Amino acid sequence: METVHTIQWMKALAQDALVNERSLGLVPTMGALHEGHFSLVRAAKRKCSPVVVSIFVNPKQFGPSEDLKKYPRTFEADREALAGLGVDILFAPTSEEMYPAGFNTSVSVKGLSDRWEGRVRPGHFDGVATVVLKLFEIVQPRIAFFGRKDAQQARIIRQMATDLNLNTEIDLCPIVREPDGLALSSRNVYLSPDDRRAAVAISQALAACQGSISGGERDLANLLATMRAKLESEPRLTVDYAEIVDADSFEPVRVIRGNCYALIAAKVGGTRLIDNACIESESDAVRVLL
Ligand code: PAJ
Repeated sequence: METVHTIQWMKALAQDALVNERSLGLVPTMGALHEGHFSLVRAAKRKCSPVVVSIFVNPKQFGPSEDLKKYPRTFEADREALAGLGVDILFAPTSEEMYPAGFNTSVSVKGLSDRWEGRVRPGHFDGVATVVLKLFEIVQPRIAFFGRKDAQQARIIRQMATDLNLNTEIDLCPIVREPDGLALSSRNVYLSPDDRRAAVAISQALAACQGSISGGERDLANLLATMRAKLESEPRLTVDYAEIVDADSFEPVRVIRGNCYALIAAKVGGTRLIDNACIESESDAVRVLL
């Protein structure tokens, strides 16, 4: 595996892949890699060659009071794991390389970026869209792989790809969870043992919603009440939002129709966690993917 720190060299390697008509796959990450990231790498390996993984803790997507400084950085372990998975290129630019003095452009996907995560974290999705567009321009992937864990992020990136006629296809991969249901996240390392026990209420709330739907419940108020009751039963949790939204518009829905997401964001101790379940419905059949 080749480790590349400069944009110029990364572009040269990407150009080489293009010229040789190879199907380059990109997995963008901020490092502190776990099985969730590795599942994206495996998906990329199945469909693409060469596979590029980027590690860049993007300052533009962190708010002034957020955890940029203390965000976990485990570069050597990440590099070893990626080499073991057969990744071809690790692209790890510095902040100065990505945002040199005078950098003055921001990509903003309107509407979708203002809700949920965007409301709680103003400017966050502009930072994400800007860095992802830069990564796409530098690496020129045929396919880029993202996790459903960050459902709103994935929706915004898809919208950007459509609006800007990008040549990159966006591939979404399922959420990888701990055996007790907690969605894997680089931020889980912040959780104290008590926080860790409490955090499982988030996926349990989604599972309760899934259980109600499997039992035939379709009334939205009842589904939300089931989900929220589970969250409120855990005193260590502070809920930012727990909603069911349309998978396309991310607006709250009145009835379960088409594809929806049950979305949850909650704080446990000082750590903010997000999770979701995808609700797919076709006439009377409804399937919930956790
Ligand atoms: P990061 O949080 O490192 O996540 C990188 C990718 O891994 C994202 O597509 C995310 O959805 C996916 N991922 C994280 N946890 C997952 C899990 N438990 N199961 C499946 N996939 C999971 O998301 C970012 O970085 C950044 O915003 C980025 C897109 C790299 C732009 O800076």
